[in-house]
Amino acid sequence: MATALIILAAGMGTRMNSDLPKVLHEIAGAPMLVHAMKAGAALDPARTVIVAGHGADMVEKAAKAYDADVTIAIQSEQLGTAHAVAQARDALAGFDGDALVLYGDTPFIRPETLAAMTAARLTHDVVVLGFEAADPGRYGRLIMRGDQLDRIVEFKDASDQERAVTLCNSGVITADSATLLDLVAAVGNENAAGEYYLTDIIGIARARGLSATVVRCDEAETLGVNSRAELSRAEALFQQDARYQAQEDGVTLTAPETVFFAHDTVIGRDTVIEPNVVFGPGVTVESGAMIRAFSHLEGCHVARGGVIGPYARLRPGAELAEDVKIGNFVEIKNAQIAEGAKVNHLSYIGDATIGARSNIGAGTITCNYDGVFKHHTTIGQDTFIGSNTMLVAPVSVGDAAMTGSGSVVTKDVPAGALAVGRARQENKAGFAIRLFEKLKARKAKGS
Ligand code: UD1
Ligand code: CA
Repeated sequence: MATALIILAAGMGTRMNSDLPKVLHEIAGAPMLVHAMKAGAALDPARTVIVAGHGADMVEKAAKAYDADVTIAIQSEQLGTAHAVAQARDALAGFDGDALVLYGDTPFIRPETLAAMTAARLTHDVVVLGFEAADPGRYGRLIMRGDQLDRIVEFKDASDQERAVTLCNSGVITADSATLLDLVAAVGNENAAGEYYLTDIIGIARARGLSATVVRCDEAETLGVNSRAELSRAEALFQQDARYQAQEDGVTLTAPETVFFAHDTVIGRDTVIEPNVVFGPGVTVESGAMIRAFSHLEGCHVARGGVIGPYARLRPGAELAEDVKIGNFVEIKNAQIAEGAKVNHLSYIGDATIGARSNIGAGTITCNYDGVFKHHTTIGQDTFIGSNTMLVAPVSVGDAAMTGSGSVVTKDVPAGALAVGRARQENKAGFAIRLFEKLKARKAKGS
């Protein structure tokens, strides 16, 4: 059965107190909206419709950056969740299959849960995701009759007896697409909030003789984010889960609570991660690597046996082959570093290629930026770059070449050559002694 996703993301999110639409606030380096899209991707959707309103341009950009094929439906006035779903009508024209409604601010729905909902659709016309709430608060209440879901009542409209129900509505709902659109078209707004409630479709469906049921999930999965405090709590839950998962996958975390993963971090088995390491988006670390304390990695690849840090920074485009060593206070950006090469201390390597087994001395800098353009530095294999070499790009150093410490290299260095580009040293005999005496005498006179 083909599935279409409808992700509701038009709300303003007043309590975030932000210029950024709520669904674009990030958890683990990705907007909440992208987390919702990733959750829905488990159903391999034939179409994805994002209902946007507040900050629709920004929402569209973020959604399309993750999946260029999504359709944006605009809800210019936020008249309620049923009204929001109705905006997907044009985008779903000609679609035959089930539609599943997700919220852009509910990032943690598990694939297994969505699969259970799809399975429940085999026996029921409408399936709602519910949970037993520890504190049901203002959630919509699911009113059951036997195994049938009879209706959903919003908190504002509920009687005391209904408010006592603890089975709550997550907001996730699925039905045949045409049926869902028919049902939302029948929803009115005569209620306490004056809104078109998506939740009303259950009562309408039942009155039409359709069946409805509830799939239950853990409350943590349906966690929605409405404020910055809830955002940080969601982040903490994500990290807790990611740390546990990494350890289950055979990664050693010396101090798990100090390591921060991104939504897409991939770490191989038997890699060791020391305390206080932060992963930005787009990082893959292969097996048997060592990420030492206080390192920051983003958009990079570390192959088997790499040793990174302590205090290293790998920025986007850092491609490290097997057994590469990157030491303390080294920054690598957009650079390919071949097998066994070492950049051990206090260096900046940007827009560069470094050949196998080359040794880059302390304080080496690829001067890649001329103030307007970026330029490339190419270093061959088996080279020895002396400490504090400035490589003024574009420039290349051939295989097995060397540079003298403190050199400013502005011309290509042929293979096997030694480049020395610095002022020649001159020693002036006895000069230091005479200079010291002169200075001390001046100090004694008090001038
Ligand atoms: C909704 C449910 C409630 C459920 C709760 C779970 C309804 C009427 N109520 O309440 O039963 O327990 O979620 O969190 O559905 N949105 C739009 N356009 C709109 C209105 C909302 O896109 O016109 C989006 C919001 O941006 C948000 C989502 O829909 O992502 C939910 O809307 P919200 O107003 O937060 O619903 P609740 O009142 O929390
Ligand atoms: Ca809400």
